[in-house]
Amino acid sequence: MATDEKTSSNQPTASPALIEESISSVMTEKRKFPPPVEFSNSAHVSSMEEYEKLYAAAAEDPETYWAGLAEQFHWFKKWDSVLEWKTPYAKWFNGGKTNICYNAVDVHMNSWRKNKAAILWEGEEGDQRVLTYGELHRQVSKFANVLKIAGIKPGDRVAIYMGMVPELVIAVLACARVGAVHNVIFAGFSAHAITERVNDSRAKMVICCDGTRRRGSTINLKKIVDEAIVNTPSVRNVIVLKVTSETVSMHDGMDHWWHDLMGLAMDVSEPVEVDSEHPLFVLYTSGSTGKPKGILHTTAGYMVHAASSFKYVFDIKDEDIYWCTADVGWITGHSYMVYGPLLNGATLLMYEGAPNYPQWDRFWDIINRYKVTILYTAPTAIRAFIRAGNEWVTKHDLSSLRLLGTVGEPINPEAWMWYHRVVGQEKCPIVDTWWQTETGGIMVSPFPGATPTKPGTATRPLPGIMVDVVRKDGVSCNANEGGYLVIKKPWPSMLRTIYGDNERYEKTYWSEFNDMYFTGDGARKDEDGYIWIMGRVDDVVNVSGHRLGTSEVESALVSHEAVAEAAVVSRPDDIKGNSLVAFVTLKDEYEGDMKLRESLRNHVAKEIGPIAKPDEIRWAKGLPKTRSGKIMRRLLRELATSNEVKGDVTTLEDFGVLENLRDQEDE
Ligand code: PRX
Repeated sequence: MATDEKTSSNQPTASPALIEESISSVMTEKRKFPPPVEFSNSAHVSSMEEYEKLYAAAAEDPETYWAGLAEQFHWFKKWDSVLEWKTPYAKWFNGGKTNICYNAVDVHMNSWRKNKAAILWEGEEGDQRVLTYGELHRQVSKFANVLKIAGIKPGDRVAIYMGMVPELVIAVLACARVGAVHNVIFAGFSAHAITERVNDSRAKMVICCDGTRRRGSTINLKKIVDEAIVNTPSVRNVIVLKVTSETVSMHDGMDHWWHDLMGLAMDVSEPVEVDSEHPLFVLYTSGSTGKPKGILHTTAGYMVHAASSFKYVFDIKDEDIYWCTADVGWITGHSYMVYGPLLNGATLLMYEGAPNYPQWDRFWDIINRYKVTILYTAPTAIRAFIRAGNEWVTKHDLSSLRLLGTVGEPINPEAWMWYHRVVGQEKCPIVDTWWQTETGGIMVSPFPGATPTKPGTATRPLPGIMVDVVRKDGVSCNANEGGYLVIKKPWPSMLRTIYGDNERYEKTYWSEFNDMYFTGDGARKDEDGYIWIMGRVDDVVNVSGHRLGTSEVESALVSHEAVAEAAVVSRPDDIKGNSLVAFVTLKDEYEGDMKLRESLRNHVAKEIGPIAKPDEIRWAKGLPKTRSGKIMRRLLRELATSNEVKGDVTTLEDFGVLENLRDQEDE
């Protein structure tokens, strides 16, 4: 069936039923690439034997393993116990007191790194800034004082809605310094999405920019915040960073300029000594049903895993110039743009804008000019570069690169090979890193100096991480048998709960398999123990590396005056990984035409953000449903992909509806 092809190219679209049907057809990739000898020679972990030893020791005694890593940080008070585990609630390093901002910034004040570049920043228009660790420390301390003066106390939630400027990192670190819980909201989200996230976390403050630059134009973020906070009673203050020259409206009493407050603040501020389990941040991610989930991470365990995974997976050295292209609004930006690199005293590059501005060689130009050594990006970007053409890449000198990484969705072997050949010039290992907002840090990935890689697989789990692929009854699958990806033991950077909703936390992650964390992904383990991710098993779709809940898009569509009902599914897309197809039933008085299609797409952009805009809208007189009234998205997925349905339709209530849903010409 058509869907077998999808999973065989590792597209993230499988449903549980499809996983079982597609098991035998997925094994196609045989290429294997050992790490280059020169790389291994100087790597933190330089052979598979070394990795196996580490893995075995961590499996045998996980607490000793994690405690060993934790020793390397500064503790105001050492922990009493490494792990207290009462399924599904974990306390790591309980009884300890620390501060992640202190460990990411202050610790470098006592060494030569004080004068090392922490952040190399480039704006979309080409403007540049360099912040040393010393300057970062000064700015973060000042902004921590601003937060304190504004009445922010440990445990208070602070929403951050900013473009990719250094002050975003400063705001995040300052929150951690004073013990406030940051809630970063991706600057592409709409006013409605901000309202929902601010209300759910009951944030006391919003920090934003007046605007952000994107592909040569300016988006007025302050205006979006103004619209959002009409309905957020918890917000007392808005701090606005001036980035653009546009005029914005400032409201007396509520709104304050960043530079005014920083002008008054002292640059000395003692970090708050927080408990190990003190909440660090809430980050919202889409769920398959209902509203977005506020994933809660706490301080010490997150710190230990974000920092150590960064060190080993990216094999970081003091000389490296490391560039993660993710926005801080996503978990990759939290763990591997901000915390991981800074906790290791690394130099990170931060780029404000789009990969194709002013033209398609912006990334490669940046790599050449800054002599970037490590690049961490997403398969969706890689596919877009492939489409744009090799000449954009090859006209630049990329010889500084020594390691490449990917994250966010399965990378198709062809895209992996292109990344390896054209960008890495066949000399850079590729670390395909599997993890989630919920896991806080990388779980499955090659160790670049040790693990032989195969295009399309994230290879083996990190030491201390017990992943497995299991059948519905929880029994381990055989080699190459498709099943469900689970994590069998608690790990330090695991989410602690869904903010304010323990019941949903238990149900979403811990109800499928007894005592094991269910990732929601389908996978298989090959004969070498390598994990091949087959995609989400529920209805969450991954578009351009961003996880979107179909139900959220459906709710946005249904909130349009013309729409009676909607179902949204994803279909493999060469560039974005997946594109969204919406099947929409209109209210009787409306006629489906081009104009209405555009109006619906714009409506979704307004409700959720432009990334959620359906790529295609098909008019549906009715939707295929089960007898109990559930929409059968599986059939819609098949229709959207191959324009026919070959899967099981026995539970379908009304066969007639399918006929009307095939490809439709634009009226
Ligand atoms: O389905 C997996 C896919 O992205 C999901 C997690 O999405 P999110 O929480 O938004 O975090 C993305 C960044 C960590 C996973 O459940 N995914 C992520 N990385 C990979 C991946 N699928 C395959 N290979 C990966 N390397």
